[in-house]
Amino acid sequence: MSKAVPITRMCIPAFAARKGGDKLVMLTAYSAPVAKLLAPHVDALLVGDSVGMVYHGLPSTVGVTLEMMELHTAAVRRGAPDTLVISDLPFGTYQESPAQAYASSARLIQAGADAVKLEGGVELADTIRYLSERGIPVMGHVGLMPQRINQMGSYAAQGRTTEAVERITEDAKAVAESGAFAMVVEGVLESVAANITGMVKIPTIGIGASPKCDGQVLVSDDVFGLFQDFTPKFVRKYANISDEISKAASGYAADVRSGAFPSDKEYFK
Ligand code: KIV
Repeated sequence: MSKAVPITRMCIPAFAARKGGDKLVMLTAYSAPVAKLLAPHVDALLVGDSVGMVYHGLPSTVGVTLEMMELHTAAVRRGAPDTLVISDLPFGTYQESPAQAYASSARLIQAGADAVKLEGGVELADTIRYLSERGIPVMGHVGLMPQRINQMGSYAAQGRTTEAVERITEDAKAVAESGAFAMVVEGVLESVAANITGMVKIPTIGIGASPKCDGQVLVSDDVFGLFQDFTPKFVRKYANISDEISKAASGYAADVRSGAFPSDKEYFK
């Protein structure tokens, strides 16, 4: 029988207790090796359903399945055994009922996630309460909700009208009051992010939502300059890995074609 190993990673209460304190740092991760590289630098890794766009070439996150999320969650957990891992519930796996959300969440938790994230506000308050009361920590996601692209028509910033500001604020309030331990606030004006952050007692993690949030999250492939299709205004690229990959592939191809690879030292005699 294998020996029980205590869990030493940052726990949900410790993450939630950072409200108003040191900024929380999150990045997305989808694979074991990248999770291992990122783990020492972040407070939590998000297995985002953005994986559908940046890894699987899907046009939006709508086509992401629970099976895809399970596989990527398990890979990230293997790469970062001591890091808080949060996994996105994909489109169509939680909106129908709290029981559907519980069954889907349980699969992600069993794959290695510590918590799940879901997009929605007032209409999902009962679901968030249902999951939280049954031992599944939930991170909310309000403002711009990419899984609703078919309704929104674009990924433009949200909250530009009084009605939209009121709706997003009500969503944030409902998410916080129904037991979520934190929430992502995406693509909203600074004033909206500041108001929500001041209003709720749980940490807000901004993406395109100004420095007024309790922490920040970005899609790591954007940060590394790996995802080429488009770069949102709010992304800062800290590297240009796609250039490095192109250079490496072109160097390898040239060496194979010229006979320079493999050299004497690079094969078994
Ligand atoms: O799927 C994702 O990567 C996300 C972040 C952009 C917050 O939800």
